[in-house]
Amino acid sequence: MAIFLDSSDLKEIRQFMATGIVSGITTNPLIISKENPGVDLKTHILEIISMGKVPTSVELTTETEAEMLAEAREYLKWHPKHVVIKVPMTEIGLRVIHTLERGDKTPVNVTCIMSFNQAYVSALAGATYVSIFSGRVRDMGYEPARIIEQTRAVLEREKLKAQIIVGSMRHMADVNEALHAGAHIVTVPPAILRKMFWNPRTTETIREFNDAWKFDRAKKK
Ligand code: E4P
Repeated sequence: MAIFLDSSDLKEIRQFMATGIVSGITTNPLIISKENPGVDLKTHILEIISMGKVPTSVELTTETEAEMLAEAREYLKWHPKHVVIKVPMTEIGLRVIHTLERGDKTPVNVTCIMSFNQAYVSALAGATYVSIFSGRVRDMGYEPARIIEQTRAVLEREKLKAQIIVGSMRHMADVNEALHAGAHIVTVPPAILRKMFWNPRTTETIREFNDAWKFDRAKKK
């Protein structure tokens, strides 16, 4: 299992990479436009990679097969080692996934997946990652855990290489649920990732220990 950071914010990336718990970064057009409006994409992605030096997903935004392949190959030129192409789950996207994975031998993260069947066909197309959107699945009234479990079972039964990334996290419970349901990777926004470290009783206990020590040292003087 692994944790990716679901953010393009350079300060957050720097802080979390320093903890050693993050082994990848995912971005998407909404995240980048919210966190860094008007930024030059190439400059920003290269800054992210220079800071993280981990697989970094960059999403395609064109819509024809030719445009998507050209866009992907442009992004890959920026940093062949760490750029991972994020391809939206569509029929055209399947052809792009297959060409990039089998022809260009480059890793693809298939994104915007909301169902088992989408994850399965993406894995058949040769995807390296299949990204299931927990929060958006739940928004529709379905259980993300069931989709994750089904996908994991079939990937293993059919020995497909794809790794399940679960994103679209809304709460820390979504992260825990995804990991227990069989996600290989969870991609987590900084605010939710921080909640994974925090516990009120831990904070109280640290305070109690430090206060006791300060009190004792003060008496010693
Ligand atoms: C990750 O790769 C996804 O792009 C991201 O988690 C989507 O989050 P959202 O559904 O909150 O927009």
